Amino acid sequence: MKKSFLLISLVFIVSISFSQKMKTVPASKVSLDKGWRFHLGDIPFPIIKGEEMTYRSAKAGKAWGAAAPEYDDTKWRNLNVPHDWAVELPIDSTENEAQGFRTRGIAWYRRSFTLDSSDIGKHLELQFDAIATHCTVWLNGTIVHRNFCGYNSFYIDITPFANFGKTVNQIAIRVDAVQQEGWWYEGAGIYRHTWLVKRNLKHIETDGVFANPVKQKNGQWLIPVETSVENAGNEMARLTVEASILDSMGNIVAHSMSPILVDKLDKKSTKTRLVVGNPALWTMENPAIYQVKTVLKEKGIALDSVITTCGFRTFRFTADSGFFLNDKHIKLKGVCTHQDNAGVGIAVPDALWEYRIKKMKEMGVNAFRCSHNPPANAFLEACDRLGIVVMDENRNFNVTPEYTRQLEWMIRRDRNHPSIILWSVFNEEPMEGTVNGYEMVRRMTAVVKKMDTTRPVTAAANGGFFTPKNVCHAVDVIGMNYYSHLYDSVHKAFPNTPLTSSEDGSAYMVRDEFVTDKAKCLHDSYDLQAAEWGRTHRNGWKEINERIFLAGCFYWTGLDYRGEPQPYTWPAVDASFGIMDQCGFPKAAYYIRQAQWLDKPVLKLVPHWNWPADSIGKPIKVMALTNADSVRLYLNGKLISGKRIDPYEMEEWKVPYRPGKLEAKAYKNGKLINSDVVETTTEAVALQLIPYRNSLSGDGHDAMPVNVQAVDKMGRVVPTANFNIQFEVNGSIQNIGVANGNPNSHEMEKATNRNLFHGMAQIILQSTENGKGAATIKAHAVGMKDAEATIEIK
Ligand code: GAL
Repeated sequence: MKKSFLLISLVFIVSISFSQKMKTVPASKVSLDKGWRFHLGDIPFPIIKGEEMTYRSAKAGKAWGAAAPEYDDTKWRNLNVPHDWAVELPIDSTENEAQGFRTRGIAWYRRSFTLDSSDIGKHLELQFDAIATHCTVWLNGTIVHRNFCGYNSFYIDITPFANFGKTVNQIAIRVDAVQQEGWWYEGAGIYRHTWLVKRNLKHIETDGVFANPVKQKNGQWLIPVETSVENAGNEMARLTVEASILDSMGNIVAHSMSPILVDKLDKKSTKTRLVVGNPALWTMENPAIYQVKTVLKEKGIALDSVITTCGFRTFRFTADSGFFLNDKHIKLKGVCTHQDNAGVGIAVPDALWEYRIKKMKEMGVNAFRCSHNPPANAFLEACDRLGIVVMDENRNFNVTPEYTRQLEWMIRRDRNHPSIILWSVFNEEPMEGTVNGYEMVRRMTAVVKKMDTTRPVTAAANGGFFTPKNVCHAVDVIGMNYYSHLYDSVHKAFPNTPLTSSEDGSAYMVRDEFVTDKAKCLHDSYDLQAAEWGRTHRNGWKEINERIFLAGCFYWTGLDYRGEPQPYTWPAVDASFGIMDQCGFPKAAYYIRQAQWLDKPVLKLVPHWNWPADSIGKPIKVMALTNADSVRLYLNGKLISGKRIDPYEMEEWKVPYRPGKLEAKAYKNGKLINSDVVETTTEAVALQLIPYRNSLSGDGHDAMPVNVQAVDKMGRVVPTANFNIQFEVNGSIQNIGVANGNPNSHEMEKATNRNLFHGMAQIILQSTENGKGAATIKAHAVGMKDAEATIEIK
């Protein structure tokens, strides 16, 4: 990325020595994640009566009840955020099935912090990356924010309310998770990060830099750097904003600057431009990331600086031939996914995003739709790094000021990510076929365009396509959820508007189950069942792949999630639409998608070959999930038959069951390219632990899943194993959740060391703060050989 990188500054080229001077970064961003106190349940405000008390309680700084600074919270639970209290509570049949029968309700959080006297004169901002769902925030007895969306961040200027020295600052937050914004599991609580940012009174606003490279007709790249500056000082300030591109070594190679005059207690933005000649491109295979450094200066002295990452890529959606990235035609092989994760609910440690996205990439995914809300920062950063393109989606469909603010926040926070290629303003809204819907989307599109003209606006519609005025008339790219029988007619009705499936699939499968049993809420994994509005994996992909005008698919869903246990209900609790289960364990669908999406040879035989004795002689349906031309199937060394493979349907056999070895050999152009075996195992005798990585950094944040499987005496995995397992962790690690990927499981996931095996199981481990040395994890089950693994904490 460093080599042929030619940068031409519009203003002047500076030397490396200049970069040394710009190293000072006076702003500090301190994590507030540790040390919260938590109270489950509401604490009603005491009733205020009488002239004097009422008068006093109406004043700034005089909040009462649990919002009062002096409230005694010493008996509350101590915890760190990210935190999701809903995942800690038992599953309850009386709760809402859409939310996975989890209890949400109301709770309070409090946290205190002190500020040094050296912080006097700084601009102080509290930042919350997201709280589910609505909340009210007080600082030092003054209400400082009310938030009405569980998916957006909010930033609070606390400069006028702050105490310095020994007097503590007290944050109190009442979280109302009775509110619901979705029909899936939404969790509850402060589930993303919290920060305290200290900056100069004259500073660059949060999310205040927009630096997205745009390719010019002459082949050069222009980076219009737009910077919003706030002056919370006492006088008008004459400032300069200097923008620089950093090469891979962090050296400033070129920069440009612009002056800006900001009045006291005012905000202003300024634009400057950088031109780049021949950068390394952001591609799906090699997503090169660059950094833009923006420094705010006064009389040559740096007051504030911000690093923004960006990538150089072009893309376009066309009406007749879909999507192009860097002028290369690419079919979007996308998935939709909710944010909750096995074991931890929505309080997902940053490191787990990378795990999830890497699993998707291994399966051939190149696109993600954040359904149906803006994701965590760490998710988008991982997509930038891993070369996945993203449809970023707004949660609430509304154009009144509060909701416009939510949409604006999403664009502002996310507009520098090279991964983002689409802004989606809604998912499936009843007004979509009406003039009202059209008017709303027209306004929302205008809001987006004011902030970013480089990405198209879409809306994920599931109807109303042919009414005289509907949302399709107001978007840049039409998003169709399901309604695949209308792909051609919508394309015909809108011949000049690009079209993508924004959601498709909703096929049912429970991992490693091959018999549908309604009484047990089980679906088989033969890719035969889908929601009535959906399609199986094979049918759905055929419909999309054969239509060049469709940009691609966004299969519902990449991973299983809590809630929506359709078509079943209690005792089923979670969705089974996933290509993988909640732990990221592959279902048969995973191999179907690999065969559809990867360029390398894929062959997977299903089902397992561990059938009960009374199945002997009975026909078992066997499938070869493959992208080969033909496959030969052998049972215990004897050829059953060879078949030519239909690229969409793949192939199946009915094989009279005999225990032993079922083997498939796959051929392309007559050449053996792959083989796969499923074997009858004996009973499970030992456990095996498979940590995702060998080490964790000892920062108290880093985390990873450790998978557990059971093997027979010959070391073969027993896919049908079901029993209780017990975990033990020692050293600088903690168990932050256990799971088994079973959508019908009612097991506790938090604060427990045991779980029920469902062919596999998983434990999520997190390092402890200042952790060091070798940590161990042990798994134990009655009658099995224990498993032990060591994880280096660095
Ligand atoms: C869609 C909806 C998704 C999910 C899915 C289940 O209509 O957008 O959120 O509910 O159905 O099939």
